[in-house]
Amino acid sequence: MKSYVTATAALFCLAAPALADGHASGDPAAGEKAFKQCKSCHMVADGDNVIVKGGKTGPNLYGVVGRTAGTADFKYSKDVTAAGEGGLAWDEASFVAFVQNPNDYLKEATGNDKARSKMTFKARKEEDAVNIWAYLASVGPES
Ligand code: HEC
Repeated sequence: MKSYVTATAALFCLAAPALADGHASGDPAAGEKAFKQCKSCHMVADGDNVIVKGGKTGPNLYGVVGRTAGTADFKYSKDVTAAGEGGLAWDEASFVAFVQNPNDYLKEATGNDKARSKMTFKARKEEDAVNIWAYLASVGPES
């Protein structure tokens, strides 16, 4: 019994850092380049401090790390809003999954088969999504 408890505690310690909001396993420099795919629709701006000049079709991605889904100043789809109300806050895993297939991710996150995102773009490479997350974490507010 004792060894079981110890093993569980050890596993928990290993898993804990990966669960932290700011966790990023990608390469921020590669992510900065890959962000080109996103910038037609998304800017990264801390108020007047514009880090990446981009479009307004999608929400500002400054501070997206750890942010509750659907809570920037933007007119979101009801399904992103519902996911946020259901407790979704962006971490690496949810971000990487969403960015590769927003509709499928929202269906899963909300349990609603009809969920649809206003984001019509899909990142083709998981690696790009992982690196973009690292980039956004590196320019965002301390988390
Ligand atoms: C064609 C325009 C377009 C492109 C290109 C695009 N997005 Fe989006 N994105 C949107 C829209 C619109 C939304 C709002 C979704 C909704 O309300 O359903 C969104 C939402 C998001 C969200 C949720 C943000 C929040 O505040 O909850 C993330 C994260 C995101 N996009 C990341 C990305 C990344 C990373 C890329 C590049 C790989 C990208 N997007 C490319 C239009 C786009």
